[in-house]
Amino acid sequence: MEKSKEALKILITGESNAVKTYEMFSLKAKEEGYPQIGLLFEVLSKAERIHIKNHLHALDEDFVPELNEIAIGTTVENLTAAIKGETEESRKLYPRLIKSIKSECKSEYGKIARLSMTWAQKVEKEHARLLKTALKSLQSGHDISIRGIYLCQVCGNMVLNELSKEVCDVCGHDSQFFSLLTGE
Ligand SMILES: [Fe+2]
Ligand SMILES: [Fe+2]
Repeated sequence: MEKSKEALKILITGESNAVKTYEMFSLKAKEEGYPQIGLLFEVLSKAERIHIKNHLHALDEDFVPELNEIAIGTTVENLTAAIKGETEESRKLYPRLIKSIKSECKSEYGKIARLSMTWAQKVEKEHARLLKTALKSLQSGHDISIRGIYLCQVCGNMVLNELSKEVCDVCGHDSQFFSLLTGE
């Protein structure tokens, strides 16, 4: 249980910093005249909150993470920083921590911790992809064009515009667990 707890605390801290950062990035994007990228960051921050909720549930004890200073740049810089963060999380941090709890995965506690971490890792990969699309759009001079973003309330998975499947790709829950956010 000790390794799982340590891993979950590291992740809750990282995700809590991401929530704050994305809230600030959202305001900045709206201020620069990119409301849709602002919405993207806003929903991303909500998705990270879902990861925190799941990790805290797995941790099963009180924990208050330490928050860092947030560096805010232009929206292009913010998107670039966010892509870097999400990519590092999905490719390095989560795989390393999931591996670190391997010896505890036979216990119920370890299983819940691993599930929460595996969902979040997959979602971070999708977050990186969405952010890259936004950066590409902004580099060619315009905001992204979206009608809304569906957020899976179970795992934080995000789908732009339309739900084409009956279950969430990441957690397998029914599409009724998605809520639509339009920024209005
Ligand atoms: Fe993320
Ligand atoms: Fe999901």
